Amino acid sequence: MRAVVWKGPYEVTVDEIEDPRVEESTDAVMRLTTAAICGSDLHMYEGRAPIEPGQVFGHENLGVIEEVGSAVKSVRPGDRVVLPFNIACGFCFNCARGFTNACLTVNPHSHGGGYGYSGMGPYRGGQAEKVRVPFADVNCLKLPGKPGDAFEDDFVLLADVFPTGFHATEQARVLPGDSVAIFGAGPVGLMAALSAKIRGASEIYVVDAVAERLEKAQALGATPVDFSKGDPVQQILDLRVPHRKNVQNLQRGAGDKMPGVMCAIDAVGYEAWAHDGAGKTQNPTQVLDDVVAVTNPTGHVGLIGVYFPQDPGGVDEDAKKGRFTVALGNAWEKGLSVEMGQCPVKKYNVYLRDLIVAGVAKPSVLVSHRLPLDAAPEAYRKFDERTDGYTKVLLKPQQSAA
Ligand SMILES: NC(=O)c1ccc[n+]([C@@H]2O[C@H](COP(=O)([O-])OP(=O)(O)OC[C@H]3O[C@@H](n4cnc5c(N)ncnc54)[C@H](O)[C@@H]3O)[C@@H](O)[C@H]2O)c1
Ligand SMILES: [Zn+2]
Ligand SMILES: [Zn+2]
Repeated sequence: MRAVVWKGPYEVTVDEIEDPRVEESTDAVMRLTTAAICGSDLHMYEGRAPIEPGQVFGHENLGVIEEVGSAVKSVRPGDRVVLPFNIACGFCFNCARGFTNACLTVNPHSHGGGYGYSGMGPYRGGQAEKVRVPFADVNCLKLPGKPGDAFEDDFVLLADVFPTGFHATEQARVLPGDSVAIFGAGPVGLMAALSAKIRGASEIYVVDAVAERLEKAQALGATPVDFSKGDPVQQILDLRVPHRKNVQNLQRGAGDKMPGVMCAIDAVGYEAWAHDGAGKTQNPTQVLDDVVAVTNPTGHVGLIGVYFPQDPGGVDEDAKKGRFTVALGNAWEKGLSVEMGQCPVKKYNVYLRDLIVAGVAKPSVLVSHRLPLDAAPEAYRKFDERTDGYTKVLLKPQQSAA
């Protein structure tokens, strides 16, 4: 079969490799109908995460079950399923408590497993014609309908970015009426904006410097903030003034002491651009500084963008070891809650599927490109450069196979 294979920094190719097969009685093999490229793939693509040549990419996988092992009970060949990007066993100490992002049995070297990702176990990715699914009963979410129907491009986003954006709003404890600032209008930031809307936030600000992405944020009902036009924290404080006037008699004592938002989300991570250097100068602590600065005392911060313990391309010796200087004193003084880490997709995917089926959420509004597998090398290059409107690329492995 054909698959997207990493060769070295900024180089992926579509190669012929061996088909996956059922290796354990609890496995299934799925034929892909759609596989998305993720912003997380770009860290590896650029060589900014430890990775070996030959890695097959792809952790956002949707398709049809082709074969199941003898112990698999709940899925059958022909079933349409989407796979959480986390691979989980379902029975370990962490899985049993709902933390499928930190499964203790699927990765011999660490907690947490995933498809086609550095440090997440010996699993091939799904940017390919087929993928092996460990513990299929746990890791398959069944879906209605038929491949290629009106929900195809929504359902693939249940593998990662829709649940991940929703999890960011859990981390930042977004409640009805809340004010929310989201840094990054990539797929994760946009899905956080959609989720904040679903949860009833009253003010949602989305910060980026890429025009097409900010337009998508606006279409989702958020207020776009372009950080290339000035300090985004000050812009949000200014935009909040009329809202504060509306409630100033109701929020006793708030006055100028609560000028920011109650909830802030970092959907950028360590590959952040400095304010004055969009696309030129990286500053891995830019967004960490901004979320602390923009959040009110007693507010909540979610760090969904990644900070790896090792970054061979880090801007300095500390950054190479995942050590970052943050305004902890300010955060402590404000009494902020800060939550971070990988999303446990299985905690949310059922509910979000049902929102899609009910017509309440249409996450595929963020999709910019639908391409055959062979287009992957060019798609990676353009998505990495954030040019030509490349926001979310869906690969269609069956198109290229035809
Ligand atoms: N925690 C998880 O489970 C999880 C899951 C998926 C992705 N992620 C991570 O979330 C992050 C976002 O993913 P994505 O797919 O949306 O990636 P992306 O790279 O497409 O989006 C990041 C966006 O941030 C913008 N940006 C850069 N510097 C900025 C700054 N200083 N202020 C505001 N915006 C800035 C970029 O222009 C870009 O549009 C990545 O770090 C990714 O690895 C985490
Ligand atoms: Zn992803
Ligand atoms: Zn487990």
